[in-house]
Amino acid sequence: MSPEILSPADVARAAGVLAAGGLVAFPTETVYGLGAHALRGDAVRRVFRAKGRPADNPLIVHLADASELVRVAAAVPDLARRLAEEHWPGPLTLVLEARDDLPSVTTGGLRTVAIRVPDHDVARDLIAAAGVPVAAPSANRSGRPSPTTAAHVVADLGDAVDVVLDGGACRVGVESTVVDARGDTPVVLREGSVTREQLGVAGGGATSPEQLAASPGTRYRHYAPACRVVLAAPAEVPHEVTRWSGDGARVGAVVSGSTGIGGREVVEIARFADAQELAAILYRTLRDAEDARVDVLVVETVPDEGVGRAVMDRLRRAAAG
Ligand code: TXA
Ligand code: MG
Repeated sequence: MSPEILSPADVARAAGVLAAGGLVAFPTETVYGLGAHALRGDAVRRVFRAKGRPADNPLIVHLADASELVRVAAAVPDLARRLAEEHWPGPLTLVLEARDDLPSVTTGGLRTVAIRVPDHDVARDLIAAAGVPVAAPSANRSGRPSPTTAAHVVADLGDAVDVVLDGGACRVGVESTVVDARGDTPVVLREGSVTREQLGVAGGGATSPEQLAASPGTRYRHYAPACRVVLAAPAEVPHEVTRWSGDGARVGAVVSGSTGIGGREVVEIARFADAQELAAILYRTLRDAEDARVDVLVVETVPDEGVGRAVMDRLRRAAAG
């Protein structure tokens, strides 16, 4: 059996499935989410089973509008209110104190809850029509690259999901920035497409061990493609390609528009213009490299600034082997 694939015109039907406790995968501006009724523990438990996700890794609750914050957050401090006004709808997730009546399976047993309003009409229409907060992790099997198309969702989850709403490819391509917004200044728990520059958070120095412990997702190994991922600065790309293909490996490459790899034994998986475009195609290229059966994927690095910081975070995890 395969899941029911619906178009955005059928959003009301998908909303009915969600409200009744079913699982609906839906597009957001970042990646596809695997949605369930956030206030129903039985529905949320199915999300963990479908993904094979550790029970202590909490989900992000998605809302149609910031006015619904009080349905899941126990308190909304000034900082959170300001960040929501500036960045919602958008790829910023706020960690706040959770209401007591939120099922503990949704929050992974924490006293806090992660919340965002996605910048995607289909997502917001779905949540509004369902009339409930929607818990949704990325719609991949745990340990796989996040899905940026409906086909990726079906490939990973099959009929473990009831409905897939097909809204085409996601625009941003990397997940939201997760920020603890309970204090006076935002604390970045996961790099994402809202940049530290936009948040006015200096430097980007290491997040403390206590803060990392507060964001369970960062403890798990993510984005593990079947091939070896090798990162190379622009000037090093030709050398890395030659080195690995000389070792007899089937080599793929993801490089910027100006990097020459011609004349070498290499499968060109993708080219990108800048960090933003690499973000948009990153997860797709990891899956494409697997489909092309490359042994080694050489990926050209981008500067660790702006959205490039989130891209490099994901790439380093993929390369960690
Ligand atoms: O862009 C996104 O954020 C996508 C789309 C679907 O919205 N969602 C997503 O969800 O990436 P997921 O489950 O793959 O990642 C959620 C991250 C994890 O690292 C998790 O540990 C963290 O958010 N998180 C969730 N609740 C938290 C909490 N209460 N405190 C700290 N971190 C939390
Ligand atoms: Mg994920």
